[in-house]
Amino acid sequence: QEPVIILGVETSCDETAASVVRDGREILSNEVASQMEIHKRFGGVVPEVASRRHVEHITIVIEEALKKANVSPDQLSAIAVTKGPGLVGALLVGVSAAKAMAYAHQIPLVGVHHIAGHIYANRLITEFQFPNVTLVVSGGHTELILMKEHGEYHILGETRDDAAGEAYDKVARALGLPYPGGPQIDRLAKEGEATIDFPRAWLEAGSYDFSFSGLKSAVLNYLNQASQRGEVIPKPDVAASFQESVVEVLVTKTVHAAQAYGAKQVLLAGGVACNSRLREEMKQACAEQGLPLVIPPAYLCTDNAAMIAAAGYIEYLKGNREQMDLNAHPGLML
Ligand code: KG4
Ligand code: ZN
Repeated sequence: QEPVIILGVETSCDETAASVVRDGREILSNEVASQMEIHKRFGGVVPEVASRRHVEHITIVIEEALKKANVSPDQLSAIAVTKGPGLVGALLVGVSAAKAMAYAHQIPLVGVHHIAGHIYANRLITEFQFPNVTLVVSGGHTELILMKEHGEYHILGETRDDAAGEAYDKVARALGLPYPGGPQIDRLAKEGEATIDFPRAWLEAGSYDFSFSGLKSAVLNYLNQASQRGEVIPKPDVAASFQESVVEVLVTKTVHAAQAYGAKQVLLAGGVACNSRLREEMKQACAEQGLPLVIPPAYLCTDNAAMIAAAGYIEYLKGNREQMDLNAHPGLML
């Protein structure tokens, strides 16, 4: 049987990425041009700057991905591109590039939801067992998702305010740490202890929703009060305590959901899944409950195009195709 070779393209936020994946699981190349250093100067992603950089990089990144995979456009079974959600001007660059290439070489075009991509990063590591439960934690998303079959997503719970990564980034900024704050807090927390009792938002009994704005406010109040009293702020302890609150809620709700739905696998996805404490606590909790856990390596947790090709493979097999009127969908629902 002919292998299915898919080019993935991802430009929803601040990474310009292209990747070639064979049969939905085997990475032949995985190119990422990060804009992190540029956005650092502004303390966050500036949409106009992001779009401009995507335009500058997209062709080179796609060419590199094809070259490293030793694949010519004519050998591609399909092009899979992130159609949303994300920054509209950023998404449009990937969508336009994918459409142009699909049209020029007459290659089928497949649209992918960014979160489906994050989930499918796990399938580049291990074959899925159903049902499974994924904790998606990124800069823009915090969701618990149940899957009973390929390409079908049921949202069990989601954040009611800030995303987990957003909370990390905001608290990091308040601590005077550079963007992106998640890895900074992760690092700083290792030097401290979780001695400060910050709140944990459990919400109503049985709810799989999340809320992080109360925790964020509690940390900001703590910092304001300490500096008003002229105290030296124990930054490593603040980082460790904040992180403990986030991780405890994430792990507890994920394990409860996995048990309630008889999950055969727990999957982690999104940039915050790089967090060392979350990985550690999730491993321990899943081991205690006998739940098989999959954690992708860091380079597959943060934005990349291999995950888009992996999720696109499922859409391709289902026969889902986009036409030349494909647009970017900044608020696309899963
Ligand atoms: O998935 P991602 O690369 O982009 C989005 O789709 O949002 O996630 C980026 C987020 C940022 O908020 C960043 O601070 C967070 O992931 N992050 C971390 C860590 N590494 C990245 N958060 C906590 N600990 C980390 N080690
Ligand atoms: Zn992402």
